[in-house]
Amino acid sequence: MLRIEGVHTFYGAIEALKGVDLHVEEGEIVAMIGANGAGKSTLLMTICGVTPARRGQIVFDSNDITAERTDNIVRRGIACSPEGRRIFPRMSVLENLRMGALTSDPARYDDNLATVFELFPRLKEREGQRGGTLSGGEQQMLAIGRALMSEPTLLLLDEPSLGLAPLVVKQIFEAIHRINSQRRMTVLLVEQNAHHALRLAHRGYVMVTGQITMTGTGRELLENPEVKAAYLEGGHA
Ligand SMILES: Nc1ncnc2c1ncn2[C@@H]1O[C@H](COP(=O)(O)OP(=O)(O)OP(=O)(O)O)[C@@H](O)[C@H]1O
Ligand SMILES: [Mg+2]
Repeated sequence: MLRIEGVHTFYGAIEALKGVDLHVEEGEIVAMIGANGAGKSTLLMTICGVTPARRGQIVFDSNDITAERTDNIVRRGIACSPEGRRIFPRMSVLENLRMGALTSDPARYDDNLATVFELFPRLKEREGQRGGTLSGGEQQMLAIGRALMSEPTLLLLDEPSLGLAPLVVKQIFEAIHRINSQRRMTVLLVEQNAHHALRLAHRGYVMVTGQITMTGTGRELLENPEVKAAYLEGGHA
């Protein structure tokens, strides 16, 4: 579904991605783990066309999207829930969700909204509340819900568990599991919470300073001594 080959991304002279290769197959949950500054967010922003690749190729559903504009990439079926959630704080929950629906068919708006509310009943209860006054967990639900309103086939999630209490983290990961298993949504997930992410994911990649250093099934990576030492038994998990 998604194939990334030899992607290099720069911020000015800083090379944040140094030749990244990865693929995501339809129906998978794929986790990308790595320490602060490894380049995980840059990878998602490169896929979305926010920080386009300077070299390499990104192919989605057999289309080369390497140099495509973000809005066109969204129309092709990729949605991103960015790091730090970035919901619209002064808009209500419903208005935030409406913003996510701008690229999708208005005729399916009600169905899509019902899907989001079924996944996150809390958002239905809070539909009139301003985004900025939601709890951290609710804001994360809203960020995911907003991404789902564009009817993606591939959902990109940047650190959905960031800053959340363990119980809320569990709820968010359960919701991602349901989105994948019940809605057949393909998910590429970036996380510092390696333990949860690798347990949820079918496959995973480890990124270190702009390069993929390891890949395997979620279970293989969970049991890998190097992954354990660096991401599971240290301060990251
Ligand atoms: N706008 C920017 N301008 C310059 N350098 C940047 C910019 N954004 C990110 N970088 C640099 O690119 C590298 C990768 O950053 P990125 O945000 O992708 O890391 P990350 O893996 O998502 O980290 P974290 O886990 O802390 O979110 C870092 O060295 C960072 O300082
Ligand atoms: Mg990041």
